[in-house]
Amino acid sequence: MMLKRCVMEKVPNIITPPPGPRSRALLEERNEYVTPGVYLVTPIGIEESKGAVVRDVDGNVYIDFTSGIGVVSLGHCRDEIVETICSQARRYIHQCIHVANYEPYLKLAKRLTEITPGSFRKRALMLNSGAEAVENAVKIVRQYTGRPGILSFENSFHGRTYMAMSLTGKWDPYKVGFGPYVPGVYMTPYAYCYRCPFKLEYPDCGIICALHIEKSILKTQVPPRELAAIIAEPVQGEGGFIDPPLEFFKEVKRICTEQGFYLIIDEIQTGFARTGKMWAIEHYGVEPDVMVMAKAIASGLPLSAVVARDELIRDSYPGSLGGTYGGNPIACATALKVIEIIEREGIVERSSSLGLKLRKRLEELMERYEIIGDVRGKGPMLAMEFVKDRKTKEPHPEAVNQIMRSSLSKGLLLLKAGLYGNCVRLHPPLTIEDELIEKGLEIIEASIKEVS
Ligand SMILES: Cc1ncc(COP(=O)(O)O)c(C=O)c1O
Repeated sequence: MMLKRCVMEKVPNIITPPPGPRSRALLEERNEYVTPGVYLVTPIGIEESKGAVVRDVDGNVYIDFTSGIGVVSLGHCRDEIVETICSQARRYIHQCIHVANYEPYLKLAKRLTEITPGSFRKRALMLNSGAEAVENAVKIVRQYTGRPGILSFENSFHGRTYMAMSLTGKWDPYKVGFGPYVPGVYMTPYAYCYRCPFKLEYPDCGIICALHIEKSILKTQVPPRELAAIIAEPVQGEGGFIDPPLEFFKEVKRICTEQGFYLIIDEIQTGFARTGKMWAIEHYGVEPDVMVMAKAIASGLPLSAVVARDELIRDSYPGSLGGTYGGNPIACATALKVIEIIEREGIVERSSSLGLKLRKRLEELMERYEIIGDVRGKGPMLAMEFVKDRKTKEPHPEAVNQIMRSSLSKGLLLLKAGLYGNCVRLHPPLTIEDELIEKGLEIIEASIKEVS
């Protein structure tokens, strides 16, 4: 309730330089008892959060441009979501879908098959985390095709379990010291146009990065008959919000169809209206065979899902998929509420117009500050890539670290991303008030000015 009052009064409101004394105490505790393998972006401790506002244990109030890494797209602790959680918890908290049927799981499976691209028949299964959904998508296509190979993209991120990590195209920090990785994984360059791996310019490049799969990977690394699927993020998230040209996924899908393997689209970070469409792959007019989703699906409860073409999953070997907690009733009931709110409140349209507004502002910043080398993304899922020199494009991670520190001290929570850690990415709740967007952007500009 305190926070509601703060929201009305003053946001942001920094009363003691973060991290304040209570945040520092939590930090010490963390340093004592938690492994540094679990990374930390900001040194503050959270007291409570509501909408797009977060208050720390020292009483500082921040605007949240992180949404807990793209999870609370409908804002923190929305009343309707909290009520859904409580009301389902009063009925039953856990059943296990392997023990008995329960409605929230089955309803959600149906809704997910309805709201995902493709008018063909689909089926779904629920899991707990993004990485687990990726694991299961791979199990499904391998079991169905009897083929071991999965082709992934450089600079991608698919999670931290063994298969998901093996599919991840960024070594540091995700793969450091964890080899050997799961066999059967191949990598090909992504359409990172700002730093084109083929040193070409779009559109003269002819989307060589997609054609490279056909021309090279399938000839030099793995034959089509041994490949079960290609997995791709429609916009690379941790990789720095890289959105390929429109033709890219059309070409990738064509190759899958012609060569006889499947396309898995990882919508874990991009799904549920984050990019101005319900699913980012809709920007490309492509229908995936398998989709994995998590994060915003249940407004912060651990839940993920795989939605696949019926033929791929209809005859999966009984007992070979699932898990004790996958599709927890509270999480599934919450996901149904999330979908209802997205549809009822026109969150996709809202996301799209937020995206237009943000892009305009970021492009203006790019005109003013030489250290911004690129502005990119889809909808409001936007990032700025910072460079020391626009010509050489030398990455400037130090500037990003300073901008993040400075923004925190002014009352804004931000995230970074990118192969070189030199991108500031925006992940505000899609329901954020205009006023807070403006204030957040002012803080970002003031922080950029300090390092320019
Ligand atoms: C595209 C993508 N795939 C997979 C994952 C892994 O999800 P989780 O952290 O829930 O395992 C993430 C998480 O950031 C992601 O962004």
